[in-house]
Amino acid sequence: MRPETKALLEKDRNTVFHPSTHLKQYAHGEMPGRVIASGKGIRITDSEGIELIDGFAGLYCVNIGYGREEMAEAIYEQAKKLAYYHTYVGHTNEALVTLSDRLINMAPGMSKVYYGMSGSDANETQLKIVWYYNNARGKPEKKKIISRDRGYHGSSVASGSLTGLPLFHAHFDLPIERIKHTMAPYYYRREDSGMTEPNSRNIVRMNWKNDLG
Ligand SMILES: Cc1ncc(COP(=O)(O)O)c(C=O)c1O
Repeated sequence: MRPETKALLEKDRNTVFHPSTHLKQYAHGEMPGRVIASGKGIRITDSEGIELIDGFAGLYCVNIGYGREEMAEAIYEQAKKLAYYHTYVGHTNEALVTLSDRLINMAPGMSKVYYGMSGSDANETQLKIVWYYNNARGKPEKKKIISRDRGYHGSSVASGSLTGLPLFHAHFDLPIERIKHTMAPYYYRREDSGMTEPNSRNIVRMNWKNDLG
């Protein structure tokens, strides 16, 4: 390992709290880290010079690839003019309005854009809107949300509850009471062997009924 990589990883172990990482093993150097140094198109290169195809597209969010000059320039120009302003109490700005108008034209049936900071935040907000909606129409008891086992919807308190993976629940007192889970239509690795894909869909339906009581 190059000395610069080693030094960065050592500093990282002492200063960075990594999500979805076994923190004890990482802190004790029992699992390797990787320093990502650059990206171009669909490829990333680490600090050891190893080039990889980034099949994950970051965490599924690098939709246009890495190192796009036109994107860097647009960010630079906007940051010089106005890098940030909030949208509370009706405040807006030209870039926000332009983007929202383009998005709405691309998304038939949608009428407004609400900006969040992450997928977890987006799903958390969707829950709040559904709960708010039911309060507003006089159905405050209608709060139960049914989510699938095995699904991934985020890692915050509510979106982590929507997630159907034990790793995101254990030790965090999740899922919260209002969020229930039902089976995923995933016949390939389920314990009830002999299941076919069409009858796995029926079992999901039956289980859904049982969950609802
Ligand atoms: C379908 C889906 N929902 C939610 C999330 C959570 O997004 P974030 O990691 O930005 O909180 C992801 C992220 O991978 C996702 O793929």
